[in-house]
Amino acid sequence: MHDKYNMMGVLAGFPEQLKKGWAIAKDVKIKGKFENVAICGMGGSGISGDLVIPFVKKIPVFVVKDYNLPEFIGKKSLVIVISYSGNTEETLSCYNQAKKRRAKIAAITSGGKLAELEKNVAIIPNELQPRAAMGLLFVSVLRVLFNSKIISNPNVGSAIKAAVPKACSKEGFLLAQKMKGKIPVFYASENFKGVAYRCKTQVNENAKQPAFFHTLPEMNHNEINAFERNAGKLIAVMIRDKNDSLRIKKRMDITKEIIKENADVAEIKTKGNSLLARMLYTIYVGDYASYYLALMNNEDPTPVPVIAELKKRLME
Ligand code: F6R
Repeated sequence: MHDKYNMMGVLAGFPEQLKKGWAIAKDVKIKGKFENVAICGMGGSGISGDLVIPFVKKIPVFVVKDYNLPEFIGKKSLVIVISYSGNTEETLSCYNQAKKRRAKIAAITSGGKLAELEKNVAIIPNELQPRAAMGLLFVSVLRVLFNSKIISNPNVGSAIKAAVPKACSKEGFLLAQKMKGKIPVFYASENFKGVAYRCKTQVNENAKQPAFFHTLPEMNHNEINAFERNAGKLIAVMIRDKNDSLRIKKRMDITKEIIKENADVAEIKTKGNSLLARMLYTIYVGDYASYYLALMNNEDPTPVPVIAELKKRLME
């Protein structure tokens, strides 16, 4: 199986996507004082909500991956609705609820119903798979939050420097070799939860195989107990960030020692001089790893026929 739809080319364009995302959303903003933020989206669109959580520090932020907004979302809320296609039913349902409750809304989409319904919208180019447009979507969300005075300037321009195609591709290839034939479980601190989830879902959608994720310290209280029975099947991929607290670092070291007895262990050491830079670096390595793993699995990374089939059956 080869890369018929040129996912490799799309991956090489990730730094460019990050630049474009910041420019695309430059005029999308909402004035006012908000009590909370809800970010609605599914799959490759919703991941941008998970990724922005560490940047929203002053008010509560909720990521909604469902049909319904929490009851407390109302007219003092900022609701950012993300759907690459603009036609995802769960996301449209949240959009309609946000409208009814007179929340302040911004949308990010490449078209579809969402683009028809919402005027305060950032329009993303539409030729990609949603998950492959993550660079555009994620940075657009950051821009909307920055424009609306919810976050400080994330300095995207300087963070992009960490996303170096050649270096991340090489690191991703080495990781894919280690993951081949195993079920990866990505572990990270809470700041990197969205990143670990992205790595997991990219393995699912690109390489078409199971993968899981969890965070520390929580996994120390349950999942760490589950390796012995599954000896030899799993590979723990530990995402290690220099700014993780000393206790988390110690927990990661001990966790690694314990897991090693029954599973392979690999590490991604984050690189970059800001949290955003280190997130982008790790996402890029993970994206490349899932790409190479797809080829090693003899799968074309781009199409997701099972997801398409499910969506089709839901329409019947
Ligand atoms: C496909 C993908 C999916 C979609 C999801 C929601 O590449 O990543 O996870 O993102 O099915 O669809 P959209 O993004 O169009 O709202």
